[in-house]
Amino acid sequence: MTTSLEERDRQVIWHPYTQHKDLLPPIPVVQGKDSLLFDDKGNAYIDAISSWWVNIHGHGNSYIAQKMYDQARQLEHVIFTGFTHEPAVSLAERLLPLLPGSFSRVFYSDNGSTAVEVAIKMAIQYWGNQSDGAVGVDKAPGARTKILAFRHSYHGDTFGAMSISERSVFTAPFRDYLFEVVFMDTPTPENIQQLRTDIRRQGQEIACFIYEPLLQAAGGMRIYSAALLDELLEEAAQQNILCIADEVLTGFGRTGKLFAGEYLRWKADIICLSKGLTGGTMALGVTAATEKIFRTFLSDDKRKTLFHGHSFTANPIACSVSLASLDLLLEEDCLQRIGRLSRRHQAFLDILGGFPIVRNARALGTILAFEINTGRDEYINAIGPEITRAALQAGIYLRPLGNTVYVMPPYCVTEKEMDQVYDFLVHCIRKYS
Ligand SMILES: Cc1ncc(COP(=O)(O)O)c(C=O)c1O
Repeated sequence: MTTSLEERDRQVIWHPYTQHKDLLPPIPVVQGKDSLLFDDKGNAYIDAISSWWVNIHGHGNSYIAQKMYDQARQLEHVIFTGFTHEPAVSLAERLLPLLPGSFSRVFYSDNGSTAVEVAIKMAIQYWGNQSDGAVGVDKAPGARTKILAFRHSYHGDTFGAMSISERSVFTAPFRDYLFEVVFMDTPTPENIQQLRTDIRRQGQEIACFIYEPLLQAAGGMRIYSAALLDELLEEAAQQNILCIADEVLTGFGRTGKLFAGEYLRWKADIICLSKGLTGGTMALGVTAATEKIFRTFLSDDKRKTLFHGHSFTANPIACSVSLASLDLLLEEDCLQRIGRLSRRHQAFLDILGGFPIVRNARALGTILAFEINTGRDEYINAIGPEITRAALQAGIYLRPLGNTVYVMPPYCVTEKEMDQVYDFLVHCIRKYS
């Protein structure tokens, strides 16, 4: 008798963010096409969260698949020090002019967390490299070492990325090993002057300020004001603080513009990208920096080198797939679909407004979120898994963050599929009302 995939999985797999004591049998997914995922019994699920926010053009895209295949036959991988290749250079050449800011250099890594790690390392070493000693080797006198980040931020799961993220249930077991960061609230009309004063007061000690522009995603899909963020960025620029935009989630059309930085007047010095970069098909991270930053690493003193790299840095298949994803993203039709989806979310906000149990309904581009007012606002609120189970029965994949329900489908989602998602949300809200 053959053993089921669920049973084999149970024997050998350790899933992310999963308490295996309560593990429900995971669903064997055998195929993906456009917005749909299919299980081994032929059930279809609308991937309403784009498989952890990565998928932008849908699953099984034949254009991307062809480019992947062609590249795999040509050159699947090569060490990226001492060698270069066309896909890596072409991708950098195409990305740089699209990015919101004056970036001139692309550093490749593997995922969102590593894109952030690289950004933090660049920023810290930038200050050390200004003097004769590199920070960490001979701490330069006056080198800036503090990092400024927002409360409720999430920048990834590696130790550096955890350190600059909100301390939470995710990071609690490691809290003694995380480095100190200056945390501040996201800006509001009430606190903006105080935040500006705080930045000014500590300005000379702060190496960099990292932020998820406009949307704090894993922290609860919190949307905040572009105009107020601009004020903070202006203050940071006046203090020569390096600004790092973590656009790992907000990049590639998610917020209705190509990058969230396009809503801002003040531009970042470093930008982190991943997720939608490859259309959600392969792991790749990008950290782009301005020429000003890059130049401080040019030296006869070898200690001023950025000593960072990964085995799969600039993987040619991942770079080719990113180029293919950009081709699709920049098509008029795709931009229109992003616009349509954004307008539908806005219209649905009016419907959500009619339910007293719904709190803080909000939308930004292709992302819609709201809280269901049951129990505490926290990640381990039991309502999340309940909604996931009910949604699966309705043929939809949703994964609320505690009682924060959100929708973020691939841009190819059809009108009919969105009707199904919105209908389910209304049904679900009625159930809890
Ligand atoms: C804003 C942001 N930064 C960084 C990360 C980490 O990316 P990854 O999961 O690819 O390491 C995430 C992941 O959700 C994110 O949303």
